[in-house]
Amino acid sequence: MYDKSSKMKTNRWDDHYSRRARDEKWLARSVYKLQEIDEKFNLIRKGDRLLDLGCFPGSWSQYGIKKVGPPGKVVGVDLTRPDRLSSPNFRFIQADVFSLDLEALAREIGPMDVVISDLAPQTTGVKLSDVSRSMDLARQAEQIALAMLRLKGHFLCKVFEGEDLRSFKAEAAVNFEQVRLFRSQVTRKHSREVYLIGLRFVNPPSKV
Ligand SMILES: C[S@@+](CC[C@H](N)C(=O)[O-])C[C@H]1O[C@@H](n2cnc3c(N)ncnc32)[C@H](O)[C@@H]1O
Repeated sequence: MYDKSSKMKTNRWDDHYSRRARDEKWLARSVYKLQEIDEKFNLIRKGDRLLDLGCFPGSWSQYGIKKVGPPGKVVGVDLTRPDRLSSPNFRFIQADVFSLDLEALAREIGPMDVVISDLAPQTTGVKLSDVSRSMDLARQAEQIALAMLRLKGHFLCKVFEGEDLRSFKAEAAVNFEQVRLFRSQVTRKHSREVYLIGLRFVNPPSKV
């Protein structure tokens, strides 16, 4: 909605966090979800190598760049280039996560300390199909994390609540010492989004 009577552009998503993100120069309001999760689970540390799946428009990578500092590095992957993000320790790979050659990627940039995924499908409003496409992305994010993480590394992944969530959590429990599901306070009230957090990877491929 564009309110012609006002000079400000407004819409129904223009909430407290969106305004705060603009004021604080973050590229998206979702940064506060990552911040909340990171503060609770202590995922990202100075010097870390961080892989950000579905990084556009770039707020998670922006947060990661600050957190890892100059000794660390952040690699972002998305279909769309985050044009407003640039930093000497940020590298962008424009790709579909389903088409990545994981062995080549692991050789090139791995191993990583943390893999985060905010991958989300374009929602259609058809609940079953949105949940299923989100689960496909979450499972692919986990495959990428398993190929890229170092021993004891961490994984964070967005997923929509649905009937496969329990099995997804159980599968993750095989690969991480601790697995938690977390709903962010920043997530909009009617959204089905939750985050799976896998702490301390226990099952790295032998070659990494
Ligand atoms: C919610 S946005 C991520 C927001 C980001 N975390 C931030 O804070 O700026 C989800 C992203 O997932 C990306 N995405 C969805 N499917 C993808 C795929 N198959 N491969 C790569 N990126 C994909 C979309 O292009 C979109 O930019």
